[in-house]
Amino acid sequence: MRIVACLLFACAGAGAGAAARAQTDSIAAPLTAEAGDAARGRAIVADRQLGLCLLCHSAPIAEERFQGNLAPSLDGAGARWSGSQLRMRMVDASAFNSETIMPSYFKPGGAPRTPAALRGKTILSAQQVEDVVAYLQTLGAP
Ligand code: HEC
Repeated sequence: MRIVACLLFACAGAGAGAAARAQTDSIAAPLTAEAGDAARGRAIVADRQLGLCLLCHSAPIAEERFQGNLAPSLDGAGARWSGSQLRMRMVDASAFNSETIMPSYFKPGGAPRTPAALRGKTILSAQQVEDVVAYLQTLGAP
């Protein structure tokens, strides 16, 4: 009897988890009071040390010669996704796909082997996330 109760409880828990995930498809509220700046966002996407986006993605940034092909092109991302959806993907891409290779840019680092100096830090700042979202929104249908 106790086992049955536990199973029921586990199922209820799993259902609630799925519902919570479904609600995290997007983040409607900007992370900062200052609006995102698309020009700064473009520079972050192009930067090989900051955003590193072009390691995996290609984007319509002609001056960057070697672009990635491990992920969908960012061209058209603004047509495929709303700003809220792009913000969620930037904050934590693993919320959509727990196996993704895309870094979670605004999720405090806390994985077991995170070096002490990086624990609790995010890859990009809130403003940088907003800047990248603003840039991605300019990428309409290719
Ligand atoms: C290590 C590889 C990697 C890096 C670095 C990376 N991404 Fe991704 N990204 C992916 C993959 C793979 C996907 C496809 C979906 C998935 O697996 O999560 C993706 C999906 C996306 C999508 C949705 C694409 C679509 O239209 O379906 C956007 C937008 C995006 N990434 C933006 C970025 C931006 C902006 C950066 C840099 C700040 C970045 N990514 C860095 C691997 C990466």
